[in-house]
Amino acid sequence: MSAPVDPTTTPAWEKLTQLAADLQPDLRGWFATDPGRAERFSFTAADLYVDLSKNLVDDAVIAALVELGEQVGLAERRDAMYAGEKINVTENRSVLHTALRRPRTDSLVVDGTDVVVQVHEVLEAVYDFANRVRSGEWKGVTGAQIKTVVNIGIGGSDLGPVMVYEALKPYVQAGPECRFVSNIDPTDVVEKTADLNPATTLFIVASKTFTTLETLTNARMARDWLLAKLRDAGAVDGSERMDADAISKHFVAVSTALDKVAAFGIDPANAFGFWDWVGGRYSVDSAVGTSLAVALGPDNFADFLAGFNAIDRHFAQTPLASNVPALMGLLNVWYVNFFKAGSHAVLPYAQYLHRFAAYLQQLTMESNGKGVRTDGSEVVTETGEIFWGEPGTNGQHAFYQLIHQGTQLIPADFIAVATPAHPLKDGDADVHELFLANFFAQTKALAFGKTADEVRAEGTAEAIVPARVFPGNRPTTSIMAPALTPSVVGQLIALYEHITFTQGVVWGINSFDQWGVELGKQLAMQIAPAVAGDADALAAQDASTKALVSYYLANRDRG
Ligand code: F6P
Repeated sequence: MSAPVDPTTTPAWEKLTQLAADLQPDLRGWFATDPGRAERFSFTAADLYVDLSKNLVDDAVIAALVELGEQVGLAERRDAMYAGEKINVTENRSVLHTALRRPRTDSLVVDGTDVVVQVHEVLEAVYDFANRVRSGEWKGVTGAQIKTVVNIGIGGSDLGPVMVYEALKPYVQAGPECRFVSNIDPTDVVEKTADLNPATTLFIVASKTFTTLETLTNARMARDWLLAKLRDAGAVDGSERMDADAISKHFVAVSTALDKVAAFGIDPANAFGFWDWVGGRYSVDSAVGTSLAVALGPDNFADFLAGFNAIDRHFAQTPLASNVPALMGLLNVWYVNFFKAGSHAVLPYAQYLHRFAAYLQQLTMESNGKGVRTDGSEVVTETGEIFWGEPGTNGQHAFYQLIHQGTQLIPADFIAVATPAHPLKDGDADVHELFLANFFAQTKALAFGKTADEVRAEGTAEAIVPARVFPGNRPTTSIMAPALTPSVVGQLIALYEHITFTQGVVWGINSFDQWGVELGKQLAMQIAPAVAGDADALAAQDASTKALVSYYLANRDRG
């Protein structure tokens, strides 16, 4: 792979620097004098309607951002990713999550293997499993039908399935419900299994590496829980043979490491594979989504994948000047690098998307929270901003104050759908319309603000006029879709995947490794003996850690 282009040496960067210095943000004035602005800066990508017009840009800025994309080789890098080149250089891997959603009629040969064929073989196995669980053909050890599927995973093996399960609740078919255990805090597994009947519970252990401490610990605790409860109920006799039979009927796995699955005691016949070219945070559309295929049914899962694919095609085929993920990624670069924006809010006006920001935090921050470039050199600009958010309108009554009147520039994405899942009325008022009115009002208030004269005209006492002024010129992007369907959820995820990729390309970083999470994992294993009371291990710690562990040892009530 060629060395990354230093974006700051490009003519486009120079142009953007000048444009940023000269820019006098005036969204009020820009809209007043340019009736074509909203239309010119609004785009569609598959079912998504994306309005960029309330951003701090004019035609010259957009043109320079597009030039930046061209000059850092965005299209070439994108094509290299889609083709399976090993762009994840620190792990020497291809990055092929886009292959996970290609239709079976496609073909993509990488290292002599048609990965699309592989993908569809696994999908068929997942769908077959989902159908068997749904129909009751798959039975637990007592012969009872499965009523609850518990996905055990963390990070990419959890956040995607949880987020999508919540987002697509109206599409969950009658049949098994899903739960998700991720945290190694034992509270998680205890709470999630407290009211479950082991005879009707199936665990999916999802782990790309099948080495993750949290997941394997939780899986072992779940296995102990299952066997103990089944023994108490007299459903198994405690013999190795019956335990193995119970595990084979109540545990399946999703992993790239099928040997480790077998070592755990799960029959590899009950394991769904994926490949090292799928990053954990890009894996909800692989077998990691097995819990979703069970809950939503294969047809909905297929629609979900088709949604991703629609945006993949848009990103691959659309010129940069109207390529929505590329433009949104370049806009993020504009704010991070030219306006020192350190964070980015994502504000879905859809309660079902209440875990979307949490999902995006891993996608964006594990991808672009990097300080070195693909050739090992230090980055030359700021990189990955903090993504955060909550659904509107809850956020309005919590943190919007800071977005409206605080001293930091926080670009925000507003997301809403036209058709609600629940078209309820409050008297004559359509509640979804009230909800959307808030979406539109907030983006308007952020863009256009309220001047001191407008505040005065309301009869406000002069002393408090300044506190009631809204400066405006707070940038937002509005994303709308017809409804929150499986396809639209897939489209939204793919949109942000490609936004993230675009930013990574400009910054010259590898968005597909995550070495920054390793040190803490190693240290936890070193400190664990000290926490368990090993005096030598405790003595080896730094003074602060020693004091904290000692506090724990002195205060732990063992009941
Ligand atoms: O520690 C970070 C990480 O590797 C994530 O990238 C990944 O999604 C998560 O842990 C879980 O990993 P696995 O699926 O291998 O259990």
